[in-house]
Parts: sequence; structure tokens; C-alpha cells
Amino acid sequence: MPLIQRLPEVLINQIAAGEVVERPASVLKELLENSLDAGSRAIEVQLQQGGIKQIRVADDGCGIDREDLALALERHATSKITSLEDLEAVDTMGFRGEALAAIASVARTRILSRATGNAHAWKVSEHDRTPAPAALNGGTVIEVEDLYYNTPARRKFLKSDATEFGHCDDVFRRIALSRAGVGFQLAHNGRVSLRLAAGGMERRVRELLGDEFMQHVREVDVEAGSLRLTGFAALPAYSKASRDAQYFYVNGRFVRDKLISHAVREAYADILHGSRHPAFVLFLDLDPSTVDVNVHPAKTEVRFRESRAVHQFVYHALQRALAASVQVAPLPEPVSAVAYSVPEQQRLAVEEPALAGYFTRPVAAPAFATPSPTLREPSSFGASFGSYSGSSASLTRTADTYPPVALPSTTEGAPLGYAIAQLHGVYVLAQNASGLVLVDMHAAHERILYEQLKQVVDGSPAVQRLLIPAVFGASAGEIATAEEQRDVLAQMGFEVAAAGPNELAVRTVPSLLARANVADLLRALIADLRDHPASAVITERRNELLATMACHGAVRANRQLTIPEMNALLRDMEATERADQCNHGRPTWVQLSMNELDKLFMRGQ
Ligand SMILES: Nc1ncnc2c1ncn2[C@@H]1O[C@H](COP(=O)(O)OP(=O)(O)OP(=O)(O)O)[C@@H](O)[C@H]1O
Ligand SMILES: [Mg+2]
Repeated sequence: MPLIQRLPEVLINQIAAGEVVERPASVLKELLENSLDAGSRAIEVQLQQGGIKQIRVADDGCGIDREDLALALERHATSKITSLEDLEAVDTMGFRGEALAAIASVARTRILSRATGNAHAWKVSEHDRTPAPAALNGGTVIEVEDLYYNTPARRKFLKSDATEFGHCDDVFRRIALSRAGVGFQLAHNGRVSLRLAAGGMERRVRELLGDEFMQHVREVDVEAGSLRLTGFAALPAYSKASRDAQYFYVNGRFVRDKLISHAVREAYADILHGSRHPAFVLFLDLDPSTVDVNVHPAKTEVRFRESRAVHQFVYHALQRALAASVQVAPLPEPVSAVAYSVPEQQRLAVEEPALAGYFTRPVAAPAFATPSPTLREPSSFGASFGSYSGSSASLTRTADTYPPVALPSTTEGAPLGYAIAQLHGVYVLAQNASGLVLVDMHAAHERILYEQLKQVVDGSPAVQRLLIPAVFGASAGEIATAEEQRDVLAQMGFEVAAAGPNELAVRTVPSLLARANVADLLRALIADLRDHPASAVITERRNELLATMACHGAVRANRQLTIPEMNALLRDMEATERADQCNHGRPTWVQLSMNELDKLFMRGQ
């Protein structure tokens, strides 16, 4: 039998270091967290050679008393908790009392500190733990040099200076993002690479993620009970090909948590294409006693006591923020006085008869701005487009049945305005209070259909039985899939069966899609189901399938729309959640303000 021996203290710490100190960036993280726990308002970081040669963190926090200096380097010594109750409700970044001990066991480590009220500073190092007087105005300076100088095997795992600096930079940004009220500075090899003044959250996010990110975000601030989610989530137009703009904090701590990632992914699922990654900076705050941060030595994972509730909360809060309909989407800033230096009459040229004649149809009145019921438009685009189960009368309505009426005053009315014309069978042009609205007709309709299909399928789909079944050619594979997934297809409103060795027959379709090309639609759906069969519980897959259906059901390019149809589409967009994002994450409409148009013509300059 081998002898059992107690390990020497240094080796114990070196083993612990294996978990906590993976590379320079992990040292930096621990030092920054200590500075924050000390209540610092300004933190300065200096790195040499990617942090391998030196990491120096100086703060203006509370400092460490002479008597505590040596203890700070000892394992299991902390000022942050004293009992199990403390641990269970910990609100500091650190609590294990082992980071500095671990660091000091694998690198040359010096601490200089002047606690508040002390006449001067004191210093200790990993090899000389008796405090000696030192000079420092206040706060603490910790210097960590030659990482792994005494553990060459581990040193070999370090990458190039540039790579290690990159990791340090990531850590620095993560922490700086979480504390906008603290000033930060980062320098590498003597050159300052980031300087962040203490200030508000929005400014900090803008400084670290850029103007473009801020231009595409929805602000999130949702509270429910003891849970609160705040921050900024980018709309899909700003999505990324990688995950590098994803910041999620739980009680101020950056975490990578499976449960949270899942909730976020789900919230974006409806509007973001699968290969794109959303960008966000989100803070979840909750009662510390309901979350266990003592799961992982580096504390990047957490465990929620009510994990399901947290998941639901994050999912719904984010989904709602992203879904906020166009009515609440920020309209462009009001047109300035300069831009209005031209008489109103001239500016709204489309109202003038001479110009109005350019358009193929007279401009019709919007439905709800018109008091007379005889002038009412079909209230939904689908009804007028004819793909819903609306009465057949609505299908035949065109602009010609409406008397030409002038556009309403541009200062009131619908957010997306009123249709003026259709461009190349692709775009709808509309005039609203701010200027010109351009709508991608297919994308917008696809979005609306998708949301409507979702609502319908949530109940049981309103189906339309075809008088004559639609029969189309199908491969053996397609037929097999259709049969295997018969129940799933039925749930979506399709009754499909083999009509022969090479044919499928469709007997029912969802009413919403009655006008779509059934063969194309089903082929796409079956292809989807073949790649990823859906089970009886199809919720997640269901939305993907609905997206396929909406895409095929939506009005195609080159379909001539009447003005009432276009107006109905605009009204549907306003009423539909997320109408400004199509299912593939492309925008469905854009606003060109009078200001922007004026700039094109250098008006008022
Ligand atoms: N910058 C600092 N300013 C003031 N006190 C500090 C600073 N850095 C460390 N300390 C003191 O040293 C102690 C030990 O720090 P260390 O990081 O090893 O442990 P911890 O932060 O308590 O827990 P953890 O191991 O989870 O980080 C802290 O509890 C704190 O009292
Ligand atoms: Mg610590």
C-alpha cells in the first residue's frame, strides 16, 4: 500500500491554481473583481507581454490593513464571508478566499496597499510576507509577474502574447461593461488601449460595443417580483456571425449559463436566422439567496433555485422587448425648422395633382380615418389579398371602388402612414408624418402571416377543405416522410395522403394559406420534416415549420397590389408584433425622414 501523505501548502495552492488561474486573463479577472469588491471608483490595468510578463492592477478602493496583508495571500482567508448564511446570500464577486493564494503560488506576486485612515502604505510579496512600509497615496496595487515561472509544464500551454492579450481584453471589457459607475483604463506594453470614464450604462455600452450596436438595440427593462432584466438587446439587423457580442450578467457577474443561453436563443428564435448570433448586454438581477454562485471555481456558472421561473422570465421579457410593435418603435426625430423652410404645399408634392398623376391609381383614404362606413376598407391585408378565409366579396375590391381622396394631414394618422404606390412589384411606398416609408411587401406579409399562423395553430388550425384535392408529384422519400409525419402535418392544418406511387394528395390546408401554391408549400414543409423530423411535441420545430409556411404563403414579388390592399398591409403591420423584422431577420420596412430626403437634394443647407 502506498503511504498517504499530507501535501505541502504550496502544492495545495498550485493544485487550486489549476482551477482558478488558467491564463493571464484569469489572473486579471480575479484582481479586477477584488478591486470592485473593495469599492473602487477608478481602476487602472497595465499589462506587459499579454499579461504573461506582468499584470498590474491599481485601484482606489478601501485598501488592506497592515495586519491583514499577509492573510490576503493565504488560502481560505477572506474578508467577505464568515458563515454559511453569508455564503448563501453572497453579494460580492469573491468569497472563496483563495484567488490571491493561488496566484501567488504560480507567479511572483506583490501587494501594496494603504487602507483608509492609515498614515502610509504597506507591502508584502509571496516570498516575504512580513509587511514593510511603502509609498502609495491610497487604495491597492497588485503586481503579478512571470506567470508559471515555477511550473514550466503549465507555462507551455500559454499562447502568444497577442492571443493572451486578447483574452485579457475580453475579461476587461466584460467587467467594465458591468460597472458603468467605475472608471477603467487598460494599457498594454505601455500603450493605453482603452480609457473609460465613470458614467451611465448607455454610454459605457456605446463605448464598448459601438454606435452601430446602439442604433439597433431595444432597451430592456422588465421587472417581475424579485426578478429584473435590464440592458440592451440588438435587433436582428445587427446580428453577428459569432457569439462575441453576448454579455449576460447575473447580479453583476458575467456568466455563461446554459439555461440563460437557451432562454435568450428562444426569445430570438422567431426573428433571427439560425446561423446568426444575437448581440446583447443584459443584466439579470435577483435575490442573491435564490442563486448559487458557488458552483465553479471561476464562478462563471450559476445555479438558480427556481430555474424554470428564471428561464420563463428571461424568455418572455426579452421576447416582448424584441417584439414591441412598430407603434412603439422610435420614429425619426422631428423634422427641424431648417428642413421646413420650404412651404408645406411644395414639400408634400404627392398631394399636388400634377404629381399625383404619375401614380397609376388615385390615392385612397385610410380605413379608420374615414368616418363613412361605405368607404371602409377590409381591415386586414389578408382579407383583401385573398389568402384568408374572408368573404369572396373582399377579394374583388380594388382601389377603383373607392373615390379618390386626398391624403390626411401628415401630422396625424398611422405610424406607417398611407400607401402612395408600389415600386417594381417589390416595394410599397407610403407617406407618414416623418416622411417616406418603404415596405418590403413580401417580407412584411410573411411576418404577418407567420404571427397569424402561430395564433391559429395555438388553437386548432382553421382548415379549408379543398373541393378537389390538390395532387402533385412526389418522390418515394417525400411520400414516406408525409406518411410518417402525418400527425404533425395534420396539426399544422394539412391532410395529406399518398395518391399513388409517385403522388401526394392534399385535402385540407390552413385557411390562412388557402391561396398559396399548395404543392410548393408542402414540398418545402416535407423537406423540412425530412431533415428534422418533428415529434408529437413540436413547439420548437413548429415555429420553424410555420416560418416555412408563411414564406410560401406570403404575397410574391410582382403581384400588383391596389392602394387599399397596400393600406391594409400597413395596418396589419402596425397591429402585428415584430412586424418590422421578417422571419429571416431582415427588416420589413425602413423610414426615410424628410430630413434624410432633404439631404439627398441638399435642401435647406
Ligand atoms: N484590491 C483589493 N482591495 C482591498 N482588499 C483586497 C483587494 N484584493 C484582495 N483584497 C483582500 O484580500 C482578500 C483575499 O482576496 P482573494 O481574492 O484571495 O479572496 P476573495 O476575494 O475573498 O475570494 P475569491 O477567492 O473568491 O476571490 C479579500 O477577501 C480582501 O479582503
Ligand atoms: Mg477575490
